[in-house]
Amino acid sequence: MRGTERGDETMGAMLEIRDLTKVYPGRRGGVMALDGVSLTVERGEFFGVVGRSGAGKSTLVRCINLLERPTSGTIRVGGVELTRLRGAELRRARRRIGMVFQHFHLLWSRTVAGNVALPLEIAGVPRDRIRRRVAELLEWVGLADKADAYPAQLSGGQKQRVAIARALANQPELLLCDEPTSALDAATTRSVLNLLRRVNRELGLTVVLISHELDLVRAACDRVAVMHAGRVVECGPVQEVFARPRAEATRQLLAAAEAAGEEAGDEAYEPAARAAAAGDPSPLAACRPVAPESDPALARFDRAPWRLATERRWTR
Ligand SMILES: Nc1ncnc2c1ncn2[C@@H]1O[C@H](COP(=O)(O)OP(=O)(O)OP(=O)(O)O)[C@@H](O)[C@H]1O
Ligand SMILES: [Mg+2]
Repeated sequence: MRGTERGDETMGAMLEIRDLTKVYPGRRGGVMALDGVSLTVERGEFFGVVGRSGAGKSTLVRCINLLERPTSGTIRVGGVELTRLRGAELRRARRRIGMVFQHFHLLWSRTVAGNVALPLEIAGVPRDRIRRRVAELLEWVGLADKADAYPAQLSGGQKQRVAIARALANQPELLLCDEPTSALDAATTRSVLNLLRRVNRELGLTVVLISHELDLVRAACDRVAVMHAGRVVECGPVQEVFARPRAEATRQLLAAAEAAGEEAGDEAYEPAARAAAAGDPSPLAACRPVAPESDPALARFDRAPWRLATERRWTR
């Protein structure tokens, strides 16, 4: 269900970015990686961000979860202004955001189950609850039989599934994906994209997908923002933006994609759409976001000073 279709005005947007700038220090005044970015992503949306290399896409996602402090501007997630928070309050608010990276960022010394369990372990969730949740998550991403394998024994697509399961462990509401399929071949890309669509449709997470592959964005996203030189130059429904681009940067991206022979369309993803429409029962139904006060184990997450350090490690 799309946030905009709920008719529930009181819920507000999932993500609101206003006048965001990020300047990396350096010679000659530094690099202006973000230059006044404003965006709103509604709850339940699958939102795409596209742009050529260096446009500022990764800087934007790193600023959204405050892995990078923006130079100026505000970020609200679920109505909470992250940019005003520090310390424990910030860590608590950041629990609402999961992150998936191009190169997976798994811990090689841990098994698949150990990787997915890590955020829960550090949060002090009881062992039997961790075991159950990890089993549920691995079942849901189709890797139940790989629980005891190590990342080095997995294919790229399987590694990304583990990373997605880990990103879901903390029951976030917003999932940020920075080029999650760029290291994968076409068939694997499709299956990882279908998994992200299930995360969106079955678990109800809002997903922000950064990608330079326009066919992916066309197939998966409700709306898209086009970035160029640190700015959002165009934003709207995917079909509209790609069919009638207004910005020169969008036209150039489309022309480059056409020249590269991108032809995949929605029909490539039909099986997943049909499965979702048929209402496949989800073993993760119990993993939907739960108010911390209603779940003592989750309430402990609020006091977890490990989150920042752990997430920093994952981004390396
Ligand atoms: N840590 C940093 N220090 C200095 N400059 C940086 C840093 N990170 C990014 N930049 C610069 O900021 C600009 C935006 O970079 P960013 O990584 O956000 O682009 P991108 O759109 O994600 O590109 P790509 O598609 O290649 O991943 C670039 O000019 C880049 O060189
Ligand atoms: Mg990038």
